Amino acid sequence: MRFMPEPWRVKVVEPIRLPDREEREQDLVAAGFNLFMVPSEAVFIDLFTDSGTSAMSDNQWAGMMIGDEAYAGARNFYHLEETVREIFGFPYMVPVHQGRVAENLLFSHLVHPGSIVPNNNHFDTTRANVEVNGGEAVDLVIDEGKDPEADHPFKGNIDLDKLRHLFETTPRERIPLAMLTLTNNSGGGQPVSLANVRATSELCKEFGIPLYLDSCRFAENAWFIKQREEGQKERTVAEIAREVFSYADGCTMSAKKDGLANMGGFLASRDKGLIETVKQRMVVIEGFPTYGGLAGRDLEAVSRGLREVLHEDYLAYRTGQVASFGHALTEAGIPIVQPPGGHAVYIDARHFLPDLPQAHFPAQALVVALYREGAVRGVEIGSVMFGHDDPETGEPVFAPMELVRLAVPRRVYTNSHLKYVVEVLGEIEQHKERLKGLRIVSQAKVLRHFTARFEELD
Ligand SMILES: Cc1ncc(COP(=O)(O)O)c(C=O)c1O
Repeated sequence: MRFMPEPWRVKVVEPIRLPDREEREQDLVAAGFNLFMVPSEAVFIDLFTDSGTSAMSDNQWAGMMIGDEAYAGARNFYHLEETVREIFGFPYMVPVHQGRVAENLLFSHLVHPGSIVPNNNHFDTTRANVEVNGGEAVDLVIDEGKDPEADHPFKGNIDLDKLRHLFETTPRERIPLAMLTLTNNSGGGQPVSLANVRATSELCKEFGIPLYLDSCRFAENAWFIKQREEGQKERTVAEIAREVFSYADGCTMSAKKDGLANMGGFLASRDKGLIETVKQRMVVIEGFPTYGGLAGRDLEAVSRGLREVLHEDYLAYRTGQVASFGHALTEAGIPIVQPPGGHAVYIDARHFLPDLPQAHFPAQALVVALYREGAVRGVEIGSVMFGHDDPETGEPVFAPMELVRLAVPRRVYTNSHLKYVVEVLGEIEQHKERLKGLRIVSQAKVLRHFTARFEELD
């Protein structure tokens, strides 16, 4: 296939600067070797997250000028409501300022102590919102989805046998809803097939359980369905997305991803009663139901972004860019989770640094090396993020995988920026035996990765 360049041209530029080695060294020490603590201006290429980091289009910026900042009933709310009806097919919705508030509203209504919520993989805020309401978040992704090297076109699929077993062995009232995350962020950004969504929906209907979709990356997921699933090639991404959502009772959405916006989200449903109930809680925690913590101009940016993200030249370029980034890393000898996901490439740091024990946080060591060598920022998804000390024995408990996620913001970096990152990693690969492990010197009790401070080991 012919090389696909960016289907946009640049109208506004934001300068970025490569700090010199001495500055980078000082930044690392000041940050306690935790990249969350490094100021963004000291980062040259920022692959920390694809969330809220998109570049908006001229059409979205133009839309911001027609932001209606009235307290109630802003025109932009009605635009967004219409967009959600058209693309997702759900008649009722409330906007929120980001995805986790949609989760909070949904679960605080449906989840109670003793509830069980199955999902392919819960994202960490989804899990936290189930748990704060006393529920248990159960991950049922297929086995291939847990194996970095397994080759499967839809590694985000839920295991239908395990789901049926859960439904058969649990009293119905303990499962208030089931979820599917499209694409599966915690499982490497891997897609879920149309057939899997359909079968999950049928199973849920058989047991009378509502199905909600975590739809942050719904367009990337639909694109993978078009590319990889039999019989889907001739359909538009919009048609596929519409069919996906036709199988669900509702969805949560962080528009910071496939909304191509810097802030925003919504909760949508076919259940009028549910949306009317959550509106009451919303007024207390998020704002009046027609603005949901957002300015009118933000509502407009989301509404326009949701339509733009379905453009197929954009999706071809977007997923193609991430895939060729992944292939270039593989060619440079860097082991990654295969195949590359929709929004990010995940480096398998244990495989890359086999001499560093998990107790010395190999993925964090690689994150530090990326910044030290090239002012590139990635994020550790390993034992810093998911490990902890056993409360009884005090012994460290490690994560199943030590990954470094390089998330690609939408429409922000060109292929030559990513080529630079591949070169930096290629240089690190040449002297990887010199990389130092780390030791935690201070940490918070929960979500320690945000604020932990480290020391390098000799
Ligand atoms: C799959 C998934 N669900 C939910 C969220 C939460 O969205 P937000 O960060 O907008 O609260 C995220 C954010 O990264 C996500 O990736």
